[in-house]
Amino acid sequence: MSKRAGQFARRARDFYPTPRAGALPLLRHLPRGVPYWEPCAGDGALIAHLAGRADCVVATDLAPGAEGIHRLDAMRATAADVDATGAEMIITNPPWPAPGQGGAPVVGLARHLSALRPTWMLLPWDLAANGYFDGLAPICPCIVPVGRVSWMENGTPGKDNAAWFLFDARVRVAGPVVLSRTGGRTARAVHGRALRAWRAARVGRTYTMEVAA
Ligand SMILES: C[S@@+](CC[C@H](N)C(=O)[O-])C[C@H]1O[C@@H](n2cnc3c(N)ncnc32)[C@H](O)[C@@H]1O
Repeated sequence: MSKRAGQFARRARDFYPTPRAGALPLLRHLPRGVPYWEPCAGDGALIAHLAGRADCVVATDLAPGAEGIHRLDAMRATAADVDATGAEMIITNPPWPAPGQGGAPVVGLARHLSALRPTWMLLPWDLAANGYFDGLAPICPCIVPVGRVSWMENGTPGKDNAAWFLFDARVRVAGPVVLSRTGGRTARAVHGRALRAWRAARVGRTYTMEVAA
């Protein structure tokens, strides 16, 4: 939810379930049937939107909002935890950056989660315009713009454009490639080699990937 929504109190833990329109742009970029972990699952709204394209093998949240979602602080998850689930990716709409906090909690979550698996996060588009993004850009191979969605699903769009950001702590790129939500190259093409390397060798080594502009 927008940092510019200053006149409104933010919900506890930034609990804003993802509307369908926020999830759809990601679908064509996901490997069909990819097993994933939803670490900030809330009431499971995003999981429902991705069903049919991606397979949620485990869902967790600090404050689970539905049956089948387990209680876990995503920052405490370990590689062994994720290995045990069979997840190949992490996909979530996490809490958005708190104003004046240097990108917290997103920067910490992006670094921690993307060291465990390639991680898609639905975030404000202007995250990339902040100084703290300089440290994330080398591990962000692509961004898929979403635009302004109606978080309340009442037809009134939010104040921020949103985008899906892919983070992968094993890659080093010059900067993210912006991909279309409707056509053209997909993240499966841009990041496929790195994803195959994750699958093939669950070992902690830095993987250097070149991304054509
Ligand atoms: C914006 S809501 C999104 C819910 C869900 N991902 C969706 O897309 O519908 C963010 C969620 O992150 C959870 N959360 C915040 N910090 C967390 C943490 N450190 N670990 C796990 N969940 C967290 C909140 O409880 C909240 O449910």
